[in-house]
Amino acid sequence: MDFNYVFLPIPRKISSISVEEVILLRRSIRRFKKEPIDMDHLSMILWAAYGVTDPRRGFRASPSAGATYPLEVYAVVGEKGVVDEKGGYIEAGVYRYIVEQHALKQIKKGDFRDALAKAALDQDWIRQAPVNIVVTAIFERTTMFYGERGRVRYVPMDVGHLGQNVYLMAVALGLGTVAIGAFIDDKVAEIVAENKYEIPVYIMPIGKPAEIPRTSFEDIEKYILGKRRKM
Ligand SMILES: Cc1cc2nc3c(=O)[nH]c(=O)nc-3n(C[C@H](O)[C@H](O)[C@H](O)COP(=O)(O)O)c2cc1C
Repeated sequence: MDFNYVFLPIPRKISSISVEEVILLRRSIRRFKKEPIDMDHLSMILWAAYGVTDPRRGFRASPSAGATYPLEVYAVVGEKGVVDEKGGYIEAGVYRYIVEQHALKQIKKGDFRDALAKAALDQDWIRQAPVNIVVTAIFERTTMFYGERGRVRYVPMDVGHLGQNVYLMAVALGLGTVAIGAFIDDKVAEIVAENKYEIPVYIMPIGKPAEIPRTSFEDIEKYILGKRRKM
């Protein structure tokens, strides 16, 4: 079969929102509009997750214990889920993020969102989102240096950093996501993993939020001052 190799748009400064506003507005989103996302935006989300930020040393957007980078990142693209630069759609399928070339390598053709939702206790937001990011861990990359501490602490911490970057970049682009940890590992691995050493750790549906969460620094001030008055 003929699999696509998609070069993603080169990462660039694309948003104008401050980091404190992004943190303020970050919420887990579980209702999405039935609309595709732009390839430009998928590109920025993947770069924020695990893309290169120090070309000299190959260091990434997310910190990693000992720079061992145990994670792999996949995009499960739904039918008409991602609009490319020419106004067409990226073919539905499962794609692995190739960090150095900032590219997507297609490993499967077809829309796997329904299968992914079923593998995750039927969480419908996985089915509704145009794209899902799936993160897997190859624990040995870290445990070969740090043993048990790598397994129980460092790899899960690395996953958290990556997940938060995805959350924050999504907000900056007017998109939403939710970190999903509840799923059957083997079933998710069947859909994405390229080898038997990969263990799925997160699913993050990405899409345009059906409603934008509203909050402001004035609300936060009121909350804090109210709590102080009760001291
Ligand atoms: C490790 C982890 C696992 C999670 N798993 C799920 C999940 O399986 N399904 C889901 O809808 N939300 C999941 N969440 C999202 C949390 O429910 C959410 O972060 C929490 O309710 C707080 O809301 P907020 O993210 O809007 O601040 C998970 C979050 C974390 C950090």
